[in-house]
Amino acid sequence: MPRELVLILDFGSQYTQLIARKVRELGVYSEIVPGNAPIDAIRARKPRAIILSGSPASGYRADAPLPDAGVYALGKPLLGICYGFQVTQQLLGGTVAKADRAEYGLATFIVDKPSPLFAGVPKRFRAWMSHGDEVQALAPGWVRVAHTANCAFAAARHDKKPFHLIQFHPEVHHSPCGKQVLSNFLFKVAGLKGGWSMKGFIREAVKEIRAQVGSGHVLCGLSGGVDSTVAATLLHRAIGDRLHCVLVDHGLLRKDEALEIDRELGQRRGLDLRVVDARERFLSQLDGVSDPELKRKRIGYEFIAVFEEQARKLGAVDFLAQGTLYPDVIESASAGFGAQVIKSHHNVGGLPERMHLKLVEPLRSLFKDEVRALGRALGLPDHLVDRHPFPGPGLAVRVLGAIDRSDLDVLREADAIFMDELRRAKWYGRTWQAFAVLLPVRTVGVKGDERSYEKVVALRAVDSVDGMTADWTPLPHALLGRVANRIANEVRGVNRVVFDITSKPPSTIEWE
Ligand code: XMP
Repeated sequence: MPRELVLILDFGSQYTQLIARKVRELGVYSEIVPGNAPIDAIRARKPRAIILSGSPASGYRADAPLPDAGVYALGKPLLGICYGFQVTQQLLGGTVAKADRAEYGLATFIVDKPSPLFAGVPKRFRAWMSHGDEVQALAPGWVRVAHTANCAFAAARHDKKPFHLIQFHPEVHHSPCGKQVLSNFLFKVAGLKGGWSMKGFIREAVKEIRAQVGSGHVLCGLSGGVDSTVAATLLHRAIGDRLHCVLVDHGLLRKDEALEIDRELGQRRGLDLRVVDARERFLSQLDGVSDPELKRKRIGYEFIAVFEEQARKLGAVDFLAQGTLYPDVIESASAGFGAQVIKSHHNVGGLPERMHLKLVEPLRSLFKDEVRALGRALGLPDHLVDRHPFPGPGLAVRVLGAIDRSDLDVLREADAIFMDELRRAKWYGRTWQAFAVLLPVRTVGVKGDERSYEKVVALRAVDSVDGMTADWTPLPHALLGRVANRIANEVRGVNRVVFDITSKPPSTIEWE
């Protein structure tokens, strides 16, 4: 456990994870706990400072999530943001009510009194507000520090304790001084040293993995995705050849995917990696299957069967590695408010119980972008670390309808051209996920002097944060034109290319 921990009490704001990430970016390790966590649980974590998040709730309503009042007796430096400001005032004797004029968007802050929180920040600054309630009177012992045109108490501090409250959101991009304010809180108010980094994380994680695994053996499934690649590399650093990796090639991977993982992890880094050629098994399971959910189910069952066989061949293993990330961990702990639905991944679901294996989850405290930073710190090449997300059922949900084996090759070629052009145009890293889809319709075309009657490829590129919602990426027309031209000319069996311009909702990212 890192020596300096900042605990963020989560009251359900959509920005809570962003606060945690910003604090980590500043070099201090932070974790999120439910806003109403009991004080004993908070104290046991030995936090060096506490941040209270925003919330869609109103503190004065009966169902509002409230912090344990013991938080204020703990004496640790405390920063209340938006709802965290209001609920603190409400619990300590101030007045909170519905604002006459709600503030959503940019507001100009005018700093009235000096405060270490605003050191290096201009006396007037713009910041992002999003609140319908406001503090109308401060509790005894509190000092007003800033106001805006619509908000008399836009920032306050305690006159003796290291407690600071702000109505704006310092964690969002639209608050240009926000980073300075958070940094002031961590280093000037709380006196922390910082220095948390991926190098430090690797040292700690290696120690923790060794302590957990002891002399045991770990089985790790590789999917070709970023998380499992990084998890395996980290585990290998910790326990060397007691890590056993299995990559199931179900015939539904992208072009050269199994090869690239084998080259980097198996050959270059010397991981014990088996690439299992299970293409025939999977493809025969999918023969004549056109329903997307049935495809997913069949692939899921087959995956488990192959994986279990491989584990049996390996002999005694004690642990199964899983690339669980921090957002999954917080979502299941956020005490009901603001929790999001998690997408269930079929890859290893239910496996640990069936195989009587314990879990090792070395990425469970990291956000996705931190996993990428960790991958780089471990020396993995950019093209593996920057990969777009890829669904477990792979190309099976991108060849629409019943799958003809030759269709998979057609799609692989088309997709590879799309990726190649995206990379050349430096757009690969600017879109969240991009891929090609093969449609089960034929259209008329003309190649040379001959009429053709061939399939259609759809291109999809989306901007998203977590895949829950998405918008189509406005790729430059010239780039789309090059991709279409190359696919229609170079890929046999395709004579038309279209670009998908729907958002999610109402569509989904994948077509099946
Ligand atoms: P949808 O299509 O639901 O996709 O908008 C959201 C994100 O999830 C991925 N996806 C899957 N991942 N197994 C997975 O592991 C699946 O069955 C699956 N279906 C969709 C999709 O690629 C996108 O990133």
